[in-house]
Amino acid sequence: MCGIIGYTGKKQATEIIIKGLKSLEYRGYDSSGIAVFDGENIQAVKKEGRIVCLEKELETNPLSGNTAIGHTRWATHGKPSDSNAHPFVSTAHKFAVVHNGIIENYLEIKEYLQARNIHFYSQTDSEVVAHLIEYLYIGDVKDAILSAVRRLRGSFALGVISSAEPGIIFAVKKDNPLIIGKGENENYISSDITSLQKFTGSVVVLKNYQLAKVTASDIELCDFDGCEQSVETVDVSRELADDTHDFESFMEKEIREIPAALTRALKGYVSPFGEAEYWQGINRIYFIGCGTALHAGMVGKRILKKLLPELNLFAEMASEFRYDDFHIDEHTLTIAVSQSGETADTLSCIRMVKERGGKVLCVCNVPISSIVFESDFALFTNAGPEVAVASTKAYNCQLAVLTMFALDFARLKGALTKQQFEGFMADMGHLPEKAEETLKLNEFISDFSSWNYTRKSVFYLGRGLDYYVAMEGSLKLKEISYIQSEAYAAGELKHGTLALIEDGVLVMALVTQRDLLDKMHSSLIEVKSRGATIITITPFGDNAAIKDVSDYIIPIPNVTDILYPVISVIPTQLFSYYIARAKGCDIDKPRNLAKSVTVE
Ligand code: G6P
Repeated sequence: MCGIIGYTGKKQATEIIIKGLKSLEYRGYDSSGIAVFDGENIQAVKKEGRIVCLEKELETNPLSGNTAIGHTRWATHGKPSDSNAHPFVSTAHKFAVVHNGIIENYLEIKEYLQARNIHFYSQTDSEVVAHLIEYLYIGDVKDAILSAVRRLRGSFALGVISSAEPGIIFAVKKDNPLIIGKGENENYISSDITSLQKFTGSVVVLKNYQLAKVTASDIELCDFDGCEQSVETVDVSRELADDTHDFESFMEKEIREIPAALTRALKGYVSPFGEAEYWQGINRIYFIGCGTALHAGMVGKRILKKLLPELNLFAEMASEFRYDDFHIDEHTLTIAVSQSGETADTLSCIRMVKERGGKVLCVCNVPISSIVFESDFALFTNAGPEVAVASTKAYNCQLAVLTMFALDFARLKGALTKQQFEGFMADMGHLPEKAEETLKLNEFISDFSSWNYTRKSVFYLGRGLDYYVAMEGSLKLKEISYIQSEAYAAGELKHGTLALIEDGVLVMALVTQRDLLDKMHSSLIEVKSRGATIITITPFGDNAAIKDVSDYIIPIPNVTDILYPVISVIPTQLFSYYIARAKGCDIDKPRNLAKSVTVE
């Protein structure tokens, strides 16, 4: 949802900005741009399309200078175009601004400035920031920016350069992430750590309502009233995620990494239940998240329900939870699941829950992220950097961590004996090897996908835990292959959707829950007799009834019932990947999407 990068130092800034933008492209990829101070003026080049289009434009219109800001965009206000791309340069060319977030009162400000003869050239909310700063400038850039941000409503991470004070990048944070990277006689700003890791391992994470004045040799921080604040540096690992190595895409690489990621997720689990009393009183738990993370939360809820049926458990979309009337008090725990740790809807829920006295635990893949900072407790998935927009290994690790948490909580509440708990833990220890075994299905799934990529629609069916995996499988397929797909609780199908089943419809059935086997079989007979082709993901491939109703079987290894989602999702991930590949889709960067959605 838009990525920001900035550099000030002695080197040519353009090359560095382009490198940084490439790492940030997952946050939006409909247009990009760069503004450089060339020693006299601010020059900007902006281009619709991927970063490669900007690179091409820079070949004909090169920019030179040592201080620059860049931006990669996911359009909110105004369609993707050269003129709507950032940076925005103010009328007198004194300021250039990049923005991530939404300026809610931009129309008001725009009208005010237009009434004073300031001309606007884009449809964006962001452009107002550049003009407002210039309008308020009376000799001190920091003061002008502070006066401007005090007038803005909404969420914003900003990078600003000015020809009036060369060599300085001003960075502002309110509700959107912004990080400063510290180098040797050079400094950076960026929306995330990953894009900085290739330049430095030392960062300063901006807090809400902070402004940073960044020169090549110094970083100063203040709040929006201009009061000085201390600078805290954090050392981060420099693990790079910029290379697909021998794989054709990040998604393929990330699916292949599932076994190793699971090993790390399991080893890295640290029980949060230090003070047992603090947790004993919890009687209501909300699992919240968006997209894949929400699907993981749904599985977490269902598993916890099996272990502790007396608890009030809910799994809710963050975007809905925020505006609904859920009961929250000191006995309420909200578990926020997020790969990136920056999803705006999830973050808003955390703030709302805390304001209302609830406790928050997050399950997150990025340790230095807003969701981790704002939660009371954090469990890390340790999946390693995930670059493809469609989440895969992070989901498997979210499931592993949520399952560990559920088992741990059940033990704390006395619902599991030590022996039962250890039994489950031992089963979990085998998950990486079971995942490895499941990945061996690769060849069959690749072949199967090459015969099926022209399908117009695919239904995913399951019951119980399988239903949630069906939802994730279906999401994955539509997001990267653009094939119409729905997931249904198999028993619900006959209440309307069965009308869509006809010859040629592909049904992917998830059948892993022993106690629901017969019921699933009946549902599959219903779709089979209406002409569907059924492919079944199951450990019960030898069961005569399942064999009979299925056109194809994807045989997954046996695990304990509650652990199946971690394994059964893998064939659906591979299937989506191969279908998208056969269709020639841009697998890592599907149309209209972004990996990190930092606007509500
Ligand atoms: C975006 C991504 C999804 C992801 C969702 C939640 O929509 O495209 O893949 O599941 O955001 O992201 P989070 O980082 O909070 O898990």
